[in-house]
Amino acid sequence: MTQEQKPSGIYRYNRISFYLNGRFQEIEIAPGISTLDLITKQLHLQGTKCSCNEGDCGACTVVIAQSREGSIVYEAITSCLYPAAKLHGKHLITVEGLGSPEELHPIQQALLDHHGTQCGYCTPGFVMSLFALLASVPHPDQESILAALEGNLCRCTGYQSILAAAEELSLGYDPSTIVPAWCRELEPKLFAFDQIAQEVQKSSASQFFIANYLLPADLSELKEMLAQHPEATLLAGGTDIMVQVNVLRKHFDTVIDLGNLSELRQIKMSRSGIHIGAAVSYSQIMDSGIVNCDLPELVKLCRLIASKQIRNFGTLAGNIGNASPIGDSLPLLLVYGARLVLSSQSFTHECALRDFFIGYRLTALDTSEFIREIIIPIPPRTAFIKSLKTAKRRAVDISSVVSAIRIDEDGKAALAFGGVAAQPVFSESFASGYNTDADWQILAEQVAQEFTPLSDVRGSADYRKQMIINHILQYQEAHNG
Ligand SMILES: Cc1cc2nc3c(=O)[nH]c(=O)nc-3n(C[C@H](O)[C@H](O)[C@H](O)COP(=O)(O)OP(=O)(O)OC[C@H]3O[C@@H](n4cnc5c(N)ncnc54)[C@H](O)[C@@H]3O)c2cc1C
Ligand code: FES
Ligand code: FES
Repeated sequence: MTQEQKPSGIYRYNRISFYLNGRFQEIEIAPGISTLDLITKQLHLQGTKCSCNEGDCGACTVVIAQSREGSIVYEAITSCLYPAAKLHGKHLITVEGLGSPEELHPIQQALLDHHGTQCGYCTPGFVMSLFALLASVPHPDQESILAALEGNLCRCTGYQSILAAAEELSLGYDPSTIVPAWCRELEPKLFAFDQIAQEVQKSSASQFFIANYLLPADLSELKEMLAQHPEATLLAGGTDIMVQVNVLRKHFDTVIDLGNLSELRQIKMSRSGIHIGAAVSYSQIMDSGIVNCDLPELVKLCRLIASKQIRNFGTLAGNIGNASPIGDSLPLLLVYGARLVLSSQSFTHECALRDFFIGYRLTALDTSEFIREIIIPIPPRTAFIKSLKTAKRRAVDISSVVSAIRIDEDGKAALAFGGVAAQPVFSESFASGYNTDADWQILAEQVAQEFTPLSDVRGSADYRKQMIINHILQYQEAHNG
């Protein structure tokens, strides 16, 4: 994958079709432009705010309505990281669509009534996060409210008044007043629009085949594009790539966005396990009945990844493809014994996740190949499986150390770590040293000696070694308790 510094060059333009606050739009956009830049700079809607430009603050939150598995979902996303090309076939709702100074939306009114705004810079983001929540769950409990708002920062109001407004909305409002009539009226069109969008994508993709930002219409077109652009950068959600664009100013010569492909947005079950498509978002995983039933630890872990706005479009495949040594999902996927289905135009094969990471941010993925799906064998209910993440904050924070353990009924044990080596790794000493009579304290110290973690901003080497011991002792408590 090429990641050169931005050269001077000619950019091709993509034409996309979407609805904006109920109105149909067909416009040309620069490849790779974020939704935030599209809204504020090209469409001159100034309600949505920019603060960090890297997904951390939620000031830029907007809502996307789209069809998924037979229903329409309303999801909050950080528009600074959401490539505008992804809007194709969807309904974008911004704060301008919800209320006006003359007629505030009930969410805005509740924030006003509870003194939930001071300078107001964060307020559109809070309004949109609450809108997505209340559009999906009319009477959310406190846990859901906190989860919906965990990606929104306010530096001057204080969260209590914002939470009081949210709580009032969760109890006292007629849900039908939350989603405006024009949103509901558009919903049937979104189903049809989704199908038309595939066609539009197809024609725009072929029209702009050599453009920087390619939107395949289906899997075979994705394979074709990859065969023609073997060095292209794949983009699923874009939550890693767009940070590199916005913050590091990296240029990606050709990006192929596979996030809209319905074939890759499915979770299925087979004899081999649960298949999670490469474009399935963390939120989809958390909402999936089969994942909740058979892989509950994965759902718990997803809750600790980033924020609601990022989980709504960030993917497991992106976490794997990014190959960061501190990718949160990786130790757990390793102990689950996950396998990847890797595809190219000519070949599809499986690769065990443990063989996929071959060095610091290096993977076994060949050029022209992509991760098509992740297969997670369903563990027996008797298996003890847990994952732990150490970070400075509960939400929107990258781990200093992340780990996962599995002990099967027959005594076979696996322990994997992120943040202690150049890539996610298994502990050999734990696998060989564990037995039902083992002294966990001694084992923990042996495992800590096995690794030589780096010191960086997230923790010193000594701190990380101590975390290795702490994680193992917490696992002991959970296992024995
Ligand atoms: C504010 C913020 C908070 C975050 N918090 C966390 C956190 O708590 N824990 C954590 O682990 N991560 C975190 N992240 C990082 C990121 O959200 C995750 O790594 C996420 O899973 C990336 O998924 P994506 O679909 O957005 O990846 P993308 O940005 O689309 O892609 C990431 C990488 O994977 C490659 N890739 C994508 N899809 C494929 C495919 N199908 N085949 C092959 N390669 C592919 C891309 O080329 C790229 O190299 C955070 C990011 C932000 C901005
Ligand atoms: S501007 Fe901070 S999350 Fe987008
Ligand atoms: S009201 Fe000022 S940042 Fe929230």
